[in-house]
Amino acid sequence: MLSNTLGKKDPIPCVLTVAMKPARRPLLGALALAALLSFILLIPPPSGLLLFPSHRQTPTSPYAHRPKLLFLLAGQSNMAGRGAPPAPLPPPYLPHPRLLRLAADRRWVAATPPLHADIDTHKTCGLGPAMPFAHRVLLSSSPESAPSSVSEPGEGDPVVLGLVPCAVGGTRIWMWARGQPLYEAAVARTRAAVADGGGELGAVLWFQGESDTIEVDDARSYGGKMERLVADFRADLGLPNLPVIQVGLASGEGNYTEIVREAQKNVNLHNVIYVDAMGLPLSDDQLHLSTEAQLQLGEMLAQAYLEFNSSRDPKL
Ligand SMILES: *[C@@H]1O[C@H](CO)[C@@H](O)[C@H](O)[C@H]1NC(C)=O
Ligand SMILES: *[C@@H]1O[C@H](CO)[C@@H](O)[C@H](O)[C@H]1NC(C)=O
Repeated sequence: MLSNTLGKKDPIPCVLTVAMKPARRPLLGALALAALLSFILLIPPPSGLLLFPSHRQTPTSPYAHRPKLLFLLAGQSNMAGRGAPPAPLPPPYLPHPRLLRLAADRRWVAATPPLHADIDTHKTCGLGPAMPFAHRVLLSSSPESAPSSVSEPGEGDPVVLGLVPCAVGGTRIWMWARGQPLYEAAVARTRAAVADGGGELGAVLWFQGESDTIEVDDARSYGGKMERLVADFRADLGLPNLPVIQVGLASGEGNYTEIVREAQKNVNLHNVIYVDAMGLPLSDDQLHLSTEAQLQLGEMLAQAYLEFNSSRDPKL
């Protein structure tokens, strides 16, 4: 039982430290590293590797095997969340029985912040946009209050939301290219999410690019890499019309934020929706969205998704 769970443990945490600073390595070293990472990705870690015992003990949700409306959460720190948690937590960050999270060990558990605690493991995670996003979508699709006990599956069931956290702080967009560990893990986790209970992938929520504002070459090639990423996700998940909601940068680590923002706005693919975070309040580091900003962003993302969903041709 135990080893079963551990065997499915996602590889992201193990590869983080080595994946962070490849730019300083010579090409051969980078290639060897890439080979090593792909190898790690395919081999389940030994059962002695108990990285997150507390998360392992989180009970599986009673809704785990129900069909879900799924959202893939990808990008870097502002998607993972760095907002400081106030006490008490604002209601959109509280758990809800029909709001689930795919843990790193690929079990469906109740979603509680920080959603990326067992995924983005090299930094302390805080509050991100996905909990308020999910609460708003839940509310709009089933405004009646949640049943206190788990009902039998049947017609007209209220929607169950499944969040698939995959974001990792400090990552550049090339690390999300097909074949790279982050991309492959995101695809594998999304497939696992669909396999356990079934359902539909509602959208990818993408908030990334701050690290691509440091080098001008990264900034200038951002648009092409983003379009490639969307095309690859769609091809590998078998969803040619998969909606992707990308967040326009509110900040950057370098001097080329405007170049990346322009690239984001100009992504010219159907069903790619742009939600601009510029102007939302930042924390003292001038890089990370504050908790207040993340609450607003979650609402904005939900509004964008719901508008898109209600206006789209159901055949697409
Ligand atoms: C999306 O739209 C369909 C109808 O086109 C509707 O049945 C469904 O409830 C909507 N989903 C959400 C989450 O609002
Ligand atoms: C941004 O530009 C300023 C002025 O040219 C320079 O001092 C600084 O180091 C640059 N920042 C980065 C991250 O490159």
